[in-house]
This record gives sequence, C-alpha cells and structure tokens, in this order.
Amino acid sequence: MQCKKIEVENFRNIAHASVEFGPQVNLLLGDNAQGKTNLLEAVSLMALGRSFRGAKDADLIRFGQDKATIALDYCDHIRDMRLTATLMAGRRRKMEQNGLPVAKMSELIGGLRVVLFCPEHLSIIKSGPELRRNFLDVAISQLKPVYMSALGRYNKILKERNRLLKEASESEDARRIMQDTIDIWSEQLAKEGALIARYRVQYIQKMKQAASVVFLDMTGGGEVPNFSYVGTAHLDCEDDYLDTVKTEKAFFELLTTSHAREVGAGYTLWGIHRDDIDITLNGVCARLFASQGQQRSLALAMKLAEGEICRESCLEHPVYLFDDVLSELDVRRRDYLTSRIYDKQVILTTCEPSEMKRMGDANVIKVQNGTFCAL
Ligand SMILES: Nc1ncnc2c1ncn2[C@@H]1O[C@H](COP(=O)(O)OP(=O)(O)OP(=O)(O)O)[C@@H](O)[C@H]1O
Ligand SMILES: [Mg+2]
Repeated sequence: MQCKKIEVENFRNIAHASVEFGPQVNLLLGDNAQGKTNLLEAVSLMALGRSFRGAKDADLIRFGQDKATIALDYCDHIRDMRLTATLMAGRRRKMEQNGLPVAKMSELIGGLRVVLFCPEHLSIIKSGPELRRNFLDVAISQLKPVYMSALGRYNKILKERNRLLKEASESEDARRIMQDTIDIWSEQLAKEGALIARYRVQYIQKMKQAASVVFLDMTGGGEVPNFSYVGTAHLDCEDDYLDTVKTEKAFFELLTTSHAREVGAGYTLWGIHRDDIDITLNGVCARLFASQGQQRSLALAMKLAEGEICRESCLEHPVYLFDDVLSELDVRRRDYLTSRIYDKQVILTTCEPSEMKRMGDANVIKVQNGTFCAL
C-alpha cells in the first residue's frame, strides 16, 4: 500500500500544497509550528475519517476561510485510488472515491490502511483505558468496516441510554419514563456490545502473538509480555467473549437488573465503553511495575504488531505515519524502529536535520510556514 500524492487547500496553516511521496521513508523536516503534523493529519484523516488530534472539521479549515479540500492518491496491489474530501464549517463533509460520492465513512475505511504513531501512544501502557480502547478501535476498524459501523451504533445507543439515566436521576417523572423504555436500549446495547467485544478479543489474541515476537526481538531479553482482554460482562474467561450469544445475554442481564445503581451513577455501568487491555511483563502488571523504558518498548511493540497484523490480513504493508516519535526514543529503540520500517512506506515528521543522515536515502521534504519543498 502506498500514498503517492496529497494535494491540500486551506487545511490548517497550509494554504496550498501538493506533495509527492516516495515508496519508502519520507521525512517531513522543519522547525516547530511549520505544518509537519498538519500534513500528516490530512493524510490520516483520509484513512481514518477523523483527525487524530480530535479536531472538528471547522477547526481544520484555515483561519479566515470557509472550506478546506484534500485530495489523496494512493494505490494498493490491485488498483489506483483517488480520495477527495471537502470540509465545510457546520456542514457535512463531502467525500468522493474515484469521483463517486461516499455516503458513510464506513464505506471508505479500510481502503487506505495506516498505522499512526505519535508521542501520546508511547504512554499507552500507563495511561487510562481510553487510549487502549482507542488503539483497538482504530486498528480493528481498518480491518473490519463492520466493526466501525457497530461501534457507531453502540455509541449512539449509549448516549440515549445515558441521557435517560441522567434525567431519571433528576426527576420522578423521568424515572418512570426510563423504567418503561430503558430495556429497549439495553437490548440493543447488549447486541452491539457483544459483537464489538468478540472483535476486540480476536484482535488482542492476534496482538498477543505479534507484539510478543516484536518485543522479544527488540529487547533481546527473556521478558515475556502478555495482553489480555478485560471485559465487563462478568464472564469467566477471555474466550467466553468469543461467544456473542453468551456475551449478549450476560450484558442484557446486567443492564436490566441494575437500574437503581445506574440511575445513582447517572450513566451506563456495563459495556464495551469500559473495556481495557491487561498488559503484563513476566506476569506482573506493566502499568504498575514496568520501568519507563520497558513501557516504551511495549508501546512500540504494540504499534509494530498493529502493522504486522494489518499486513497479514490484507497481504500488504500499511503506510506508517510517525509524528515526532523518533525524538522521544533512545538510540537503541530508535535504531530498532528504523531497522523495522526502512523497507516500508513511512511518512515521518521531525525537527532534527540529523535524522536525514540516519535515514540514508529518505525522500526529504522541507516544511516551512505551511509550504512543502522536496530537497
Ligand atoms: N485552522 C488553522 N488555520 C491556520 N493555522 C492553523 C490552524 N490550525 C493550526 N494552525 C497552525 O498550524 C501551525 C503548525 O502546526 P503543526 O502542528 O503542523 O506544527 P509542526 O510543524 O508539527 O510543529 P512541531 O514540530 O512543534 O510539532 C501552528 O502554528 C498552528 O497555530
Ligand atoms: Mg508536530
């Protein structure tokens, strides 16, 4: 899989840019605040459908303008594709694939597959569970568009159910309405949740293999990592979550027998929105006991495993997007990472000209005040 070219108009600080990428390492080099991450954000937006910095479309449009456009040419082993997006403040984004309108993001996702790696991901081990769930969501959505659709439905149902619970905690009338209607939402939530849980378990089981291989290779030591799914349906073991009928039943039971507790909390207490991944090193909790360096190695192993799982699934490498990660790593990990990616397509940002030498024959693109110029 290869990104060939991106053309951007009025996106963030980029008034106009047309940037061609080489098949291997592409280095976006420039001082702080010049637009390096902005360009990477535009590429990943076309793959993942949203800004990895969590920005709304209105914030992505260059200050003072009313729309932004992005056109991205990429190819996989079968065909050439052109994706275009027009972002307008307060209006629905318009997207096209090879000139044909795309109604939903789930129609697009999984076309261009990327592994995005930014400094925030280095704290995936010690951060809260949200970052780990996000890791799973981004990775699985690209492999299984049905996962993304299920997640979209789940989040809508959850919002409605939480609204009912919150209102019920505030008035008697609302409490009665909640009693009459909530189980319809619970049923749907349990159904979508069970499907999502199954995909997550399957993914984590693959990651367990792939990340362990990378980790052992990187550290050359005897420490063995393990990754396991932490669900909230009170099932006995991870494998039980592979049975969607069992999981759905368990979720439904929890959701229908705990209204009082949930009204007290004001939100839904059980479901995949509270999942986590348990990560251990030599059997002990990595979040609590692993050193900073070990945690970084684990994070790196998870990201490289994500790329490997993607390759196994679609039989070609994804495009790696690295935002400023090299400067966050020590020489050993940096060298390991470089050795793993030099033969794949990588677009990486850096402020350090010394990276140019280390990357050998990288395609270097100088970034200055929103302009991009191949060196
Ligand atoms: N909607 C927007 N319109 C215009 N400029 C914007 C907009 N959003 C962000 N910017 C500006 O874009 C500039 C470049 O941002 P970017 O994050 O790409 O920098 P960078 O080159 O990655 O820098 P660093 O090395 O510090 O990470 C920032 O100064 C920011 O203020
Ligand atoms: Mg940046």
